Order: sequence, then C-alpha cells, then structure tokens
Amino acid sequence: MTETRVTTIRVIIASTRPVRVGPQIAEEVVRIIGENPQVNVEVTDLKELNLPFLDEPEMPALGNYVHEHTKNWSGLIKTSDAVVIVTAEYNWGYPASLKNAIDYLYSEWRKKPILLVSYGAKGGPKAAEQLRQVLGRIRANVLEAGIQIPLNSEVDYGKDNLLNDAAAVVGAHAQDITAAVGELVATAQGQAEAKA
Ligand SMILES: Cc1cc2nc3c(=O)[nH]c(=O)nc-3n(C[C@H](O)[C@H](O)[C@H](O)COP(=O)(O)O)c2cc1C
Repeated sequence: MTETRVTTIRVIIASTRPVRVGPQIAEEVVRIIGENPQVNVEVTDLKELNLPFLDEPEMPALGNYVHEHTKNWSGLIKTSDAVVIVTAEYNWGYPASLKNAIDYLYSEWRKKPILLVSYGAKGGPKAAEQLRQVLGRIRANVLEAGIQIPLNSEVDYGKDNLLNDAAAVVGAHAQDITAAVGELVATAQGQAEAKA
C-alpha cells in the first residue's frame, strides 16, 4: 500500500502596501487549497516577513547566508514542497517586494513546483509573464497553468479600496485553482518519491 504524503504548500502574498487586496485574495486561495486533504497550507506575507533590500554580502547562489532573516526565509522555502505566489500587477510587472524576496535565495527555488496566481484589471498577465522569466532563470518548476483573476475597479472595489466580495471574485476561479493545486501536489509528490 502506498503511504499518503502530506504536501506542504506555502502561499506567498507579494504586495505590501498599507491598503491592499493581496491578503483578501490569498485568504480565499488558501481556503480553496485547504479543501485538498493531501495539503498542509501555510502563508508567508512579504509585508510581515519584512525583508530589507537584499543585504547579503555574497551571491545567494553560494548559500553563505550571514543574516538571520535570510536563513529564516531560506528555511521557509526549503521546507515547502510547493509554492503558490499570489501577486498583484504593478506597471505591467510584479511588485518589487517579490523580486527582492526571490533574489535573496537561489538553490531553494530549484525545481520547486510553483503556481502563479495573479490579479489586476486584466488578471495580471504581464506580471505573471515576467515572473515566469525570472523563475525560469533560477530553474523553479512553474506550472504552465496559471490563475489570472481580473478585478474590475468600478465593481469589485469598495470606497475603502478593498474588495467588496473576495470570496466571489476568487470563487469564480475555484475550479481552475483546485485543478492547478492537484497538479502542484502531483508534481511535488512525484519529486518526493523520486528522492525517496
Ligand atoms: C503602483 C501600481 C501600479 C499598478 N499598475 C497596474 C498594472 O500595470 N496593471 C493592472 O492591471 N493594475 C495595476 N494597478 C492596479 C492594481 O491591480 C490594484 O491596485 C491592485 O489592488 C493591487 O494589488 P494590491 O492591492 O494587493 O497592492 C496598479 C496599482 C499600483 C498601486
């Protein structure tokens, strides 16, 4: 009988503005991921992680980290079987906070199964595209299926600049998210079996 493995998926919230919808979107994504019984889901909010601009003296590719914040961040990615990046689109790219967090590490990203969830007026396609290029360089295993969540500034946002109904906005993509998470889990489990 094959043993059921639990896959730890880390959801990264990329945006860090004082008023932002990233956590609202991530909360719903986490809820949908949590429906998969094979998954243990954890969250890293880059605002809370609060990494300074990259301040390691050596190239991250060498892995000689001197700062506790780097070692901590490295441990979070190392101990995750897969990652879901929830990202905004800023000026046709992804937030600088995310690029900084990616650049801190190197080997930790290698072969890491990653699902991209982007949002914006058109679902954040340009942010996702740029992210794919960067994650390709560090040889992460980015799923071809990405989730793009369009946000209508007239309808979806309230006067407080938050989403009126994040559950509905994200829920419209629930089937796609569930399918992509299934693929993420299968990829991560395949890698774990190959290592065992
Ligand atoms: C600096 C900045 C640049 C933006 N550029 C884009 C853009 O290129 N494409 C887009 O669809 N939305 C853009 N927007 C609107 C964002 O999609 C929207 O503000 C979203 O809520 C940002 O995510 P956040 O609230 O988690 O920061 C931009 C917003 C900001 C703050």
